[in-house]
Amino acid sequence: MFTLRPIGFIESPYKNSSEIPKGLGVKHDARGILKVETEFAPGLADIEGFSHLFVIWIFDRNTGFDLTASPPSDNRTHGVFATRSPRRPNPLGLTVVQLLSREGPNLHVSGVDMLDGTPFLDIKPYLSSVPMETLRRGWLAEAEARKGMGAPPFD
Ligand SMILES: C[S@@+](CC[C@H](N)C(=O)[O-])C[C@H]1O[C@@H](n2cnc3c(N)ncnc32)[C@H](O)[C@@H]1O
Repeated sequence: MFTLRPIGFIESPYKNSSEIPKGLGVKHDARGILKVETEFAPGLADIEGFSHLFVIWIFDRNTGFDLTASPPSDNRTHGVFATRSPRRPNPLGLTVVQLLSREGPNLHVSGVDMLDGTPFLDIKPYLSSVPMETLRRGWLAEAEARKGMGAPPFD
């Protein structure tokens, strides 16, 4: 077992899950602030050079989990690990945000999809070396095709 502690909390415009856009083709461009606890702020040195960040956070308003999920982007059921369902055995969220600016321990970002006050565990620079032509998007690509949608750009 591991003991994890938040390095900060997210200020988000979303107070209820129903306010967060869901489903095929949605764009997450809401702005928020990653408020890093003062004691961890020295760890932000040099972060300004990165345009995008991974944020690892906790689905702290959830209890329990399911091993299957029916995502809003599809009318079919999938294994939880083939989805981004909040109801997972370890309630960890992963979001790519765009870093807009830094104000001391506060990172102003866009692309938040978490509720106001959500605790986060880590921040890492977003880097991807996966060539586009090798990426496969599984059931999501099939769901998009059924709706007559092309593949959106990856985030
Ligand atoms: C589909 S999950 C995806 C989150 C992240 N991008 C990921 O892939 O892990 C996003 C949903 O989680 C739920 N959610 C957001 N913040 C939460 C929190 N703090 N606790 C529980 N559920 C939350 C909301 O319903 C939101 O629409």
